[in-house]
Amino acid sequence: MKTNRIGLFGLGCVGLGLYQLLQATGSADLSIYKVVVKDPDKPRLIPPELLSLNANDILENDSIDLVVEAIDDADAAWEIVSAALRKGKPVVTANKKMVATHLQQLTALQQETGTPLLYEAAVCGAIPIVRSIDNYFSNEPIRSLSGIFNGTSNYILSKIFNERLDYSLALKQAQDLGFAETDPTADVGGFDAKYKLIILALHAFGIVLQPSRILNIGIDRLSGDDIQYARKNGWKIRLVPALTSTADGVTGYVIPRFVKTTERLFGIENEHNAVEVESVFSGTQFFTGKGAGAFPTAAAVLADLRDIARGRRYDYTRLSSPASVLDSSQVQLEIYLRYSDPALVKALNFSTISEGTLDGRYKHVTGYVSLDSLLKCNALIVRDTATVIHTGQSKVIKKSILKEELVAESQDL
Ligand SMILES: NC(=O)c1ccc[n+]([C@@H]2O[C@H](COP(=O)([O-])OP(=O)(O)OC[C@H]3O[C@@H](n4cnc5c(N)ncnc54)[C@H](OP(=O)(O)O)[C@@H]3O)[C@@H](O)[C@H]2O)c1
Repeated sequence: MKTNRIGLFGLGCVGLGLYQLLQATGSADLSIYKVVVKDPDKPRLIPPELLSLNANDILENDSIDLVVEAIDDADAAWEIVSAALRKGKPVVTANKKMVATHLQQLTALQQETGTPLLYEAAVCGAIPIVRSIDNYFSNEPIRSLSGIFNGTSNYILSKIFNERLDYSLALKQAQDLGFAETDPTADVGGFDAKYKLIILALHAFGIVLQPSRILNIGIDRLSGDDIQYARKNGWKIRLVPALTSTADGVTGYVIPRFVKTTERLFGIENEHNAVEVESVFSGTQFFTGKGAGAFPTAAAVLADLRDIARGRRYDYTRLSSPASVLDSSQVQLEIYLRYSDPALVKALNFSTISEGTLDGRYKHVTGYVSLDSLLKCNALIVRDTATVIHTGQSKVIKKSILKEELVAESQDL
């Protein structure tokens, strides 16, 4: 059996997890040959002769067959991954931001060089969702993809709803446990979930979505009043990225959503992730598992390494016939808005309002707004420290016949 020699970038949670997993499983077909890190002074748990601070010790080393990129810097990761592919070295990466922000270049580079790149670990950790969407679901149209893609946010929301912790204490606990970064913005602001959604959109619909044009509203402005509102209705709040295919095109966004007891997402707790896929022939399928952590993530990297050794790569079947992207002004979402300044309600230009309290300390309304208004008013929403929560209801306004039609299964909240 040939032993594939791995050049590993990064020896943090994921990199060290991979090293330890390979040690524990005694894999004869894969061996870590060189590990490039950044900080020369950190104590390390691996033999010093494996370590280097020089990227070229991997990139220019002809004895290295495969590259694993597991660093926490998306710009440096892009430099490493693109250089490795150009050198003809297949790459496995865990870096969702780097993949999502360079999708077009990465698919072109793979085509140009004939060298594969796999990134299962970048989307929902141990859940094998990228390969499933790319391969298994390439045989049938996908109607929608949604779920819980960010373990940190879900951990915080679980603690708030199950243990009545307040937001800052739940965040601190997540940081103490190593789920959340010191700067948690990418997780609690919905950016991390958005990068994963963008990656899945490529495989599910063949489209390359620009991060700046996809709405991400996080959980960082939820107040006690919002939690109380959900609780009194018997709901929880979850951060739910959603991609929906309609007759006029695909739409996607990341917004906190009220979740009812009857929904599968209701029971997904703590750092667990879930992906619900609705497709035309198979109906609905639900994947759940650990979305982060050293071994779950390293397991996904290992699965990709083995796939590369077997000559597998992504099919990108839908890239040749991409779906249209729905104009955001056609998408109407029913939202709960808690706000301070009435000017925000005006600016959002609700098409209908079904309930609300328009004065006093706790001002909130529920009604339909366009995705376009939410995108345009996002800075105002942040400035107001307002909360936006999707009720789960959405409609598409048909441009041609100006008729409203329901997008998703109506969720009777
Ligand atoms: N943690 C998870 O559960 C998880 C799950 C899925 C995906 N991911 C993704 O996996 C990647 C790594 O995450 P992590 O949690 O393992 O990060 P981490 O624990 O913060 O470790 C980052 C590692 O990257 C190294 N590094 C940073 N810049 C470098 C550079 N320019 N050259 C070489 N090494 C460099 C650091 O070196 P030093 O040790 O010298 O500082 C460190 O070893 C990220 O893209 C993350 O989004 C993580």
